[in-house]
Amino acid sequence: MKLVRTVHELRAWRTARTGSTIGFVPTMGYLHAGHLALVRRARAENDEVVVSIFVNPLQFGPHEDYERYPRDLARDLRLLEPEGVELVFAPPVEEMYPPGFATAVEVRGPLAERLEGAARPGHFRGVATVVTRLLNLVQPHRAYFGWKDAQQVLVVRRVVQDLALPVEIVAVPTVREADGLAMSSRNVYLSADERAAAAALPRALFAALARFQEGERDAEVLRQLVHAALAQTPVRLDYVSVSDRETFQELAQVDRPALLLVAAWVGTTRLIDNVPLDPVPA
Ligand code: PAF
Repeated sequence: MKLVRTVHELRAWRTARTGSTIGFVPTMGYLHAGHLALVRRARAENDEVVVSIFVNPLQFGPHEDYERYPRDLARDLRLLEPEGVELVFAPPVEEMYPPGFATAVEVRGPLAERLEGAARPGHFRGVATVVTRLLNLVQPHRAYFGWKDAQQVLVVRRVVQDLALPVEIVAVPTVREADGLAMSSRNVYLSADERAAAAALPRALFAALARFQEGERDAEVLRQLVHAALAQTPVRLDYVSVSDRETFQELAQVDRPALLLVAAWVGTTRLIDNVPLDPVPA
């Protein structure tokens, strides 16, 4: 496994690869089992796998956790070593955004402006910009993203389609802890008590999903079920949404593929999660 820090080294490595298919897993590091699921999928579907590790300042708001976001490159490399990864690209900020860097990629409309886009202004501009630059640098055949960040998956797919980037975006199901909590690098922020309390979030989602599977199609009923399930817990909902899986419009009836999405605070940590709602056609 080779580690490169510069665009120059990455390009030299990529130029030497002509016949092989490349799978790419972009990450912000502090890897967990969810990232490793992306790497394994990339490994299974491509000749060579590239992982990037870069905590992207552009996608953090001024009062967010950019400075304290967990970073441990040595640990990440130890986790990746047995996974058959060919290349790790871990650039410093100046390498990704050299002096004079002035371009942004922005997706307009509800897809990027609702939910996470509303809660974190500028977030998806930062994500779209860094992902576009990374895709141009790595030039992968396929790039792998987790469904945990469902809105991010759809924003990236929009960018790839609109800018005609020659890459397939593969979305991989969320990996969960034994108690259902979605894997996230931010889970390390939780104290032991908060960590125990956080399991209420997936429990609420899965309770609503069970009602959906029993036939409930009224989106407001599903949203209220999540509110009710969390009412007596330390989990403070930021939003609960039933959104169209293509357009991200809020739905009144779940009559098409949708997502039940939540964002919530546990102490000072903001967590997001979602489950797919797949109405079976009658
Ligand atoms: O999902 C993430 O870790 C980040 O948003 C990504 C896709 C690596 C872009 O910085």
